Amino acid sequence: MSTFELEWLRALFPRTLALALVLGACDDDSLPSPREDESIVFPSVGSLSGASGHGSFRFGAATAATQIEDQNPNTDWYVFTAPAASGGLGRGKAFVGDAVRGYSMALPDVDLLRDLHVDSYRFSIEWGRVEPKRDQIDEIALLHYRELLERLAASGIRPNVTIHHFSNPIWIDDPRDTGCARGPSDANLCGLGHPVGGPLVIEEARQHARLLAARFGDRVDDWATVNEPINYLLAAYGIGQFPPGEQKLSRLLDEFMPIARDYFAMHAAMAAAIHEADTIDADGDGIAANVGATLNVADWVAAKNNAESTDPADVRARDRLVYVYHHLFVDSLRNGTFDFDLDGTADESHPEWRGSLDWLGVQYYSRMGVTGSSALVIPVVDLLPCFGGIDQGACVPPIDPTYCVPQMGYEHYPQGLYTVLADLGSRYPDLPLVVSESGIATDVGERRAENVVRALEQIERARRSGIDVRGYYHWSLLDNFEWAQGFGPHFGLYRVDYETYRRHPTRGAEILAAITKDRRLSAELRKRYGGGGPLTPDSPGADRFCHAE
Ligand code: BGC
Repeated sequence: MSTFELEWLRALFPRTLALALVLGACDDDSLPSPREDESIVFPSVGSLSGASGHGSFRFGAATAATQIEDQNPNTDWYVFTAPAASGGLGRGKAFVGDAVRGYSMALPDVDLLRDLHVDSYRFSIEWGRVEPKRDQIDEIALLHYRELLERLAASGIRPNVTIHHFSNPIWIDDPRDTGCARGPSDANLCGLGHPVGGPLVIEEARQHARLLAARFGDRVDDWATVNEPINYLLAAYGIGQFPPGEQKLSRLLDEFMPIARDYFAMHAAMAAAIHEADTIDADGDGIAANVGATLNVADWVAAKNNAESTDPADVRARDRLVYVYHHLFVDSLRNGTFDFDLDGTADESHPEWRGSLDWLGVQYYSRMGVTGSSALVIPVVDLLPCFGGIDQGACVPPIDPTYCVPQMGYEHYPQGLYTVLADLGSRYPDLPLVVSESGIATDVGERRAENVVRALEQIERARRSGIDVRGYYHWSLLDNFEWAQGFGPHFGLYRVDYETYRRHPTRGAEILAAITKDRRLSAELRKRYGGGGPLTPDSPGADRFCHAE
């Protein structure tokens, strides 16, 4: 059993762990796909929301501040991962430290984007850098991001700014003081879900979003409030892999769901503030601010005993997980409601949340199993996903052994991207989608090239069946700090040499640039890298990392 699996189980069953341990694709081929011998031509970039952007397409690459920037000592990840000897908590696989020096190299890194011929750069602004202490704004940090925006504008690259990407200033919820016994103070607001601190955090996030929108609205039209809300909540407050490191999953209704409610409210408050403060239409398309959020999705399959299952208990578990993982957040913001007990019907009304999503970012990496048959199901939702290192029969072997991504221990099944786009497109036909992250952790350039080409093929397939998908951002521009996994997984279009910090283009970068240059994915490139067959192998025997134990 892996350490991650143990963490999950501890979070779920703190009191009964010892006992518990002893006990023990909907692809539709009739839909119009681009023919294999056909080139795919992509239209030009347009608005992320609104009717005028319908039919447009953007190419981009993505990063997040904490994952790339050097010297972020006022961010929770810094103290969470710093060694105990220097006052940190020593959590995760590595200290974030200088990451990949993406702060001091931010301007030259724009050249990398230019070489990729992308239309847009998705990045985040580090809140802990802009506001290192509560209500104290660091103008030098704002100047840095202003310079980045100017450099992007000079290079003809549209910014797509994420405001909250998995990190906070330490004073939001200090990971060194999670009990917060003395109650909220300027040094520690005690975080989301705290009866007094939660509303304070929401208000601080609203003010922060307002500040960024007011300062940068002349250069930015595309904003994302939060990144992968369900993943973030699970990792930070459910199983404790991210700061503040809380394990509240076993107290799902008492403690975890109030945190989720606060986070959804935080999104809505930020969205309203951006619309209020960003009144300048930077790109001249008639819309001053397109405000969305990004969502982690997976191609979930019903599983039992480490195999696909048709047992109704597992199928129901799969459907419930898709609801909680893919639909709950979006339904809440579209309808202004909250399904607190996760039974599929709304329990609370939050009219101020309604209509707070102009576009939805879709972030796809893997096909994963979920079971309803394990004795260790999560209470209330009665399911157990193959996620965060847990197995218990929920994990299924990859469809093809080469689909195993050994650096992450999961399967990357390219066709699953279509499945999730089709589901979201049919549930929310009027909500513009953009693939705001898609990528693969590998050191094999050919695999990254295959990942790029196959993702674009699946997106085109979705577009041809009428789904409003407005673009593709590769995750990531650069190798970077992969959160709890440290620096092991390499997601970059550019490989980073950790001795010199020099950036080197991978085959993936070359192929993406060849496509974006003419906005055309040629039949030759499709023949070489695309389709639904095996991928170039990662390394000999690498598929063992995806085998259920
Ligand atoms: C996150 C990124 C992360 C990527 C690869 C997404 O969950 O938004 O920050 O690095 O997946 O795991």
